[in-house]
Amino acid sequence: MGHGSAPAPRDSRRSASPVQPMRQDHLLTTKQLSREDIEAVLDHAAEVAADPAAFRDRHAGKLLALCFFEPSTRTKMSFEAAIKRLGGDVVDMGPVEMSSVKKGESLADTVRVVEGYADALVLRHPSQGAAKLASEFVDVPLLNAGDGAGHHPTQTLLDLYTIRENAGLDGLKIGVMGDLKYGRTVHSLAHALTNFDAEMHFVAPESLRLPEPVRYDLDEAGAAIHEHEEVGDFLGELDVLYVTRIQRERFPDEDEYQRVAGRYRIDADALADARDDLTVMHPLPRVDEIASEVDDTEHATYFEQAHNAVPVRMALLDLLL
Ligand code: NCD
Repeated sequence: MGHGSAPAPRDSRRSASPVQPMRQDHLLTTKQLSREDIEAVLDHAAEVAADPAAFRDRHAGKLLALCFFEPSTRTKMSFEAAIKRLGGDVVDMGPVEMSSVKKGESLADTVRVVEGYADALVLRHPSQGAAKLASEFVDVPLLNAGDGAGHHPTQTLLDLYTIRENAGLDGLKIGVMGDLKYGRTVHSLAHALTNFDAEMHFVAPESLRLPEPVRYDLDEAGAAIHEHEEVGDFLGELDVLYVTRIQRERFPDEDEYQRVAGRYRIDADALADARDDLTVMHPLPRVDEIASEVDDTEHATYFEQAHNAVPVRMALLDLLL
């Protein structure tokens, strides 16, 4: 990630205090979140969604720094909408090509400078572990908005909010399909679901199965996981089907991508045996893994999911700032 001769990390003043775990802390992965933490954010998001106007001036004058080293539409714009709806504003690094990163600046230096401009920092970076590294150099809360094929914890919070609204979290049967290897939203969601009574069915080609360390952690947490190569009979039992895009940009070579591209596609036929109340989700952007004909069905919940990003990120920022 080009941190070159990175200076030594500062001593952290933070401790894993159980008292106010969301305060003055970094959000790097969902592994650090307890069920209580998650429920606190989701409950607060429900309050925000019920009366957003009540939060209008809550964080007047607060600034959120956006450092996106990778493309983003939803995550970046919904963070911006969230802080603005709380009365605050953003300072945006803008496109990487126009930043000092192009002059060879290290990530450590960039975030140490940017933290002086804002009250919290949102970071997206192509390298797994980038958020963790960056967090060692800043004292303002740092929110991981995606680190390579690693984690995407704030996406998980809005995913969980959407699941809770549509299907409930306990006793959940969820299918997670697509790129389970490189899909960071999958890793964060799976870790978070170990806090709930959830049966997880993972569907992927052999080459895109869950990474071993994720599977290990899920086993350690006692999660009920089942792995499949095809969507099978279990589809009819699911409450939620969470579909993901094949993460083309993370494949070391294009041939490998072509071997799995278009392998899974959810269309009306595929959903013929699904329960009427199956909730179909997708973190978006989609490429071709959900046919547009599904959009008009009762199952389609992905646009609602994307919209939930604003109250959920408002709630998170309100708890953090
Ligand atoms: C996801 C991401 O960036 O990991 N997008 C998002 O934040 N909603 C999923 C993806 O890019 O496929």
